[in-house]
Amino acid sequence: MIRSVVRGNGAALPRRIMKNADFEGMVETSDEWIVQRTGIRQRHVAADDETTASLGEAAARAALSSAGMTPADIDLIILATSTPNNTFPATAVEIQNRLGMHHGFAFDMQAVCSGFVYAVATADLYIRGGLAKRVLVIGSETFSRILDWNDRSTCVLFGDGAGALVLEAEEGVGAITDRGVLAASLRSDGVHKDKLFVDGGPSTTGTVGHLRMEGREVFKHAVGMITDVIEATFGDAGITAEDLDWFVPHQANKRIIDASAKKLGIAEQKVVVTVDLHGNTSAASVPLALSVAVADGRIKKGDLVLLEAMGGGFTWGAVLLRW
Ligand code: UT7
Repeated sequence: MIRSVVRGNGAALPRRIMKNADFEGMVETSDEWIVQRTGIRQRHVAADDETTASLGEAAARAALSSAGMTPADIDLIILATSTPNNTFPATAVEIQNRLGMHHGFAFDMQAVCSGFVYAVATADLYIRGGLAKRVLVIGSETFSRILDWNDRSTCVLFGDGAGALVLEAEEGVGAITDRGVLAASLRSDGVHKDKLFVDGGPSTTGTVGHLRMEGREVFKHAVGMITDVIEATFGDAGITAEDLDWFVPHQANKRIIDASAKKLGIAEQKVVVTVDLHGNTSAASVPLALSVAVADGRIKKGDLVLLEAMGGGFTWGAVLLRW
């Protein structure tokens, strides 16, 4: 059985760090409120010369280097983003060009905060279907560009950044002991589309628009949706929470992460939390969290890792993989 095995990972963050206190003169908020309600302490914010494409390229180069590969080795790039450089062409194609890659194919995937989880599941299908052997999966976002900087209920929550993985086809035995992607579950339900959205677009306003969120409504649904999709993934893989080595959730809110881990019976020391460092970076949050836990030596070859995300749409999903 063909498996999609992680060969390398990388990340890139804008140079500028914005601390919670930096908002205090801009909107009516406080470091205390932001930390207590979300766990966020700082986020990176892109400068004019830092874009979804440039951050994605940097994360991709870091992932290729850690895999010991060059762009010539890659035959597919999937970029998860909701903040593309242009309405079209896909920013994945721009990254392909920046990497000097003129073979293979590249496309964007838009599932907001669940984008990276969707993209890993999609890359796995391309690999197992035989259409690609080595895939660069990138999550890159510049949400700072679509924030309403006068809206305290959203502007303090999000940040910019990028993360990437290189996945490669490898023959496995078809058991849970295999390395690579072992199970995935994806969900969406557009009935919730107005709870977290951007109020502009090419086909409606002809503008880019700003992010709007009914935070309390999103919060209300998040834990149930996350735990349902993870339980489905556990069921497909025939494992329980105790078998996991690491839980790498979407980094939107520490309270959502804690409540989900508790409901699933995942021990606190197995949960990777980076929301304090990066804020909510949408499709970049899971690969950024992975990059921190790999760099500090927590996630090692052979570890069983659960990725999870939930966001606008709503979309939600989980991927189980052995690193
Ligand atoms: O990545 C996609 C998924 N997104 C999420 O998972 C986000 C989910 N939602 C959340 O994380 C939380 O709902 C928030 C962090 C957005 C808000 O936390 P909350 O505990 O649900 O607060 P709330 O919306 O119920 O607001 C409580 C109060 C309100 O004031 P009143 O109505 O009680 O007077 C808000 O106006 O806090 C106020 N508030 C703020 N106060 C200081 C809202 N934003 C701020 C702020 N600073 N930045």
